[in-house]
Amino acid sequence: MDNDELLERLKAFTFWSGHREMSIEDLAAIQPGLGRLMPEIGQRTWKLYYAAKAHNWPMAHFQAKEIRGLMELGAFTRPKHEAALLEFLDQYWTPLQEAIKKEDFAAFEAAFHKAVDAANAYHELKDKPYIVWKLPENPPPDLDLSPRKKQG
Ligand code: HEM
Repeated sequence: MDNDELLERLKAFTFWSGHREMSIEDLAAIQPGLGRLMPEIGQRTWKLYYAAKAHNWPMAHFQAKEIRGLMELGAFTRPKHEAALLEFLDQYWTPLQEAIKKEDFAAFEAAFHKAVDAANAYHELKDKPYIVWKLPENPPPDLDLSPRKKQG
C-alpha cells in the first residue's frame, strides 16, 4: 500500500464521539477559529484588567496567560491570522505580562490601553472595522477578584 492509499483509508475511518460517527477530517474541521476564540478573549481581557486593578496579581497573571494560549491556538487553527496574532503577542502582550510580573499597575495600565488600541487596529486591518473592543466600566460580576487571604 503506498502513502496515498494509506491516507485514503485513514480518511475513510470514522470514530464514535458518544453522539455520532466522526472522521479525522470532521475533527479537524470543528477546531475553533477566531469567531469562537475572540469572544472568550474579550471576556478574559475584562477580567484581566479588573484583577490587576484590584492588585490580584495571580489572577491577572492567569488571565494574561490564558489569552496568550487562546491566541496561539487561533494562530494554529487559522494560519492566515498567524503572523498578526504572533506579532501582537510579541509587541503588546509580552510588555503587559512583564508589568504583571513586576506587580506594577501604572506600567500594566499603559501596556493594557496600548494593547487594546492595537487589537482594534488589527480588527480594522482584518476587514472588521466594526469590531471595536472596549473595557466595560465595571468589574465582571461572576468572579471575586479581590486578592485571596492566606489560610491559617
Ligand atoms: C486583547 C486583544 C483582543 C481583544 C480583546 C479582542 C476582542 C475581540 C472580540 C470580543 C471579538 C468578537 C466580537 C463578536 O463577534 O462578538 C473579536 C473578533 C475578531 N478579532 Fe479580536 N481581539 C483582540 C485581538 C485581536 C488580534 C491581535 C487580532 C489579529 C488577527 C484579532 C482578530 C480578530 C478577528 C479576525 C475577529 C473576527 C472573528 C470572526 O468572527 O471571524 N483580534 N475580537
